[in-house]
Amino acid sequence: MTQKHLITSALPYINGIKHLGNLVGSLLPADVYARFCRQMGRETLFICATDDHGTPAELAAAKTDQTPHDFCAEQHEIQKEIYKNFGLSFDHFGATSRTPNHELTQHFAKKLFERGLIYVKETQQLYSHTDGRYLPDRYVEGTCPHCGYEKARGDQCENCTKVLDPTDLINPRSAISGSTKLEVRNTKHLFLKQSALVDEIRGWVSDRPDFNKLVKSIALKWLDEGLEDRGITRDLDWGVPVPIDVFGDDFAGKVFYVWFDAPIGYIAATREWAEATGGNWERWWREELESTRYTQFMAKDNIPFHTVSFPATQIGSGENWKSVDNIKGFNWLTYYGGKFSTSSQIGVFTDQALSELPADLWRYYLIARAPEGDDSAFTWPDLQTVVNKDLADVLGNFINRTTSFTRKKFGEELPAAGDWTREDEAFAADLQTRIERYTSYMNAIELRKAQHELREIWATANGYLAELEPWSVYKTDPVRAGAILNIALNFIGIAARLSAPIIPTLAADLAGILGEDAPADWVTDVKNSLTKYAGGTPFYPLESVLMQKIEDEHIVALEEKFGGASEKSA
Ligand code: 2FM
Ligand code: ZN
Repeated sequence: MTQKHLITSALPYINGIKHLGNLVGSLLPADVYARFCRQMGRETLFICATDDHGTPAELAAAKTDQTPHDFCAEQHEIQKEIYKNFGLSFDHFGATSRTPNHELTQHFAKKLFERGLIYVKETQQLYSHTDGRYLPDRYVEGTCPHCGYEKARGDQCENCTKVLDPTDLINPRSAISGSTKLEVRNTKHLFLKQSALVDEIRGWVSDRPDFNKLVKSIALKWLDEGLEDRGITRDLDWGVPVPIDVFGDDFAGKVFYVWFDAPIGYIAATREWAEATGGNWERWWREELESTRYTQFMAKDNIPFHTVSFPATQIGSGENWKSVDNIKGFNWLTYYGGKFSTSSQIGVFTDQALSELPADLWRYYLIARAPEGDDSAFTWPDLQTVVNKDLADVLGNFINRTTSFTRKKFGEELPAAGDWTREDEAFAADLQTRIERYTSYMNAIELRKAQHELREIWATANGYLAELEPWSVYKTDPVRAGAILNIALNFIGIAARLSAPIIPTLAADLAGILGEDAPADWVTDVKNSLTKYAGGTPFYPLESVLMQKIEDEHIVALEEKFGGASEKSA
């Protein structure tokens, strides 16, 4: 059975433009992998959406005087445009506040209820008289009972990271009005009986051979600590309404908790895709389960929700749903060793990044520094070094040398190929080994290693030119010099195809040199690829260098604008 690949990136929250840490922590690596899969000729579906619900979205909307609906619609378009400009090749970018997610979320809740896995419990919530409403999660601020931090939020203390309940806070106040006139009221909520699913989830986790140690250990830790039943509803206006035909009038005006509906959004966004394209969403989620390979990309903090909570929803429904086969988790990208922070506006935001430098340069740098094994630090000088060395000195230099010397001596056509020498054979053999290694890193989604190998592939080609010196050979043997350049120009086609998952725009420029469109397939047989374009084939040198170096003054200016080492130590 041929495998088809379902790929999802964690759904970015709707409230505000994401920073580079968010980009490299799920969206970008998922795109690199999706592009690779497509080039390998695999049937691929790459799905993402905005995560529209939750108190942060409602609070952010209130700040702009918009309804949550209008706020989300506007922010969705803004994020969508930015991701498009970063070259993220989603097959569909949906939103969890749309109808398919409402329907599916209500469907899951109904199934879980029918199977006795959802029950009603009276809980205590804070009610604000001033605001005339309940204050769940982040609608309350106060002093953390664990560490004394005075600005702890009702769902979590930012200082000590402990998960909190609004009623845990000392001196609670409304995050909307600041009012302290709060009363504890009894109100009914739905609870998911996760405790009854522990064994099944544990079985499911041990049945995932592709989960790596980190992913497994995070899941097992949650399970070993004893899974508590989870409150899955909130007293909010914005969210997926709890269906009263199923749960009764007590639930009028209540919605599902954002972490209940968000992962269902993966399925819902696939349904949106199907509606928009005539595709078959059930083929990916309900049928042919064995032939779908499902890979999720996310930051580390999301792993428990995807290894325990969402599986609890899926397994508990008693229905046959596709569940994840492999989770690629990421640590944190830091800004000069400190936290990127949306709330404190520290770091570089995705829109700002694009207005400073081209997307591919960011893509390349961020993959080179992807926080795979450990946290990884963004600094402007590091970006400069990576871009100048790899993209300008290695790849760019190879392209410029090859095309300008060929044009000068042979015009804008490939010189004739010759009989291959030992050096040519050695070059091809070296490339073959490296490309196989690169391919296996891509298959294993070891992106830093993959990027490193890609650079080595470019460097190998540069080494070939440096060793064979066609410019010197030309003086005594122009035919052999032409044969070397024929191989070098053919290599540009290889570089285009191999580079495309990481730097798709530059890869399209490379393909254009050989008169081709953006690369659509992968390189398997190097010798074939190095002899693909015969002598006499026209080529089209770039109008300017492939990659301009980033100058020192530019880096100084960027550090000044965004804050750099000096701010951090201040
Ligand atoms: O952490 C986050 O950014 C969440 N919005 C991720 C949600 S992933 C999925 F479950 F929707
Ligand atoms: Zn605390």
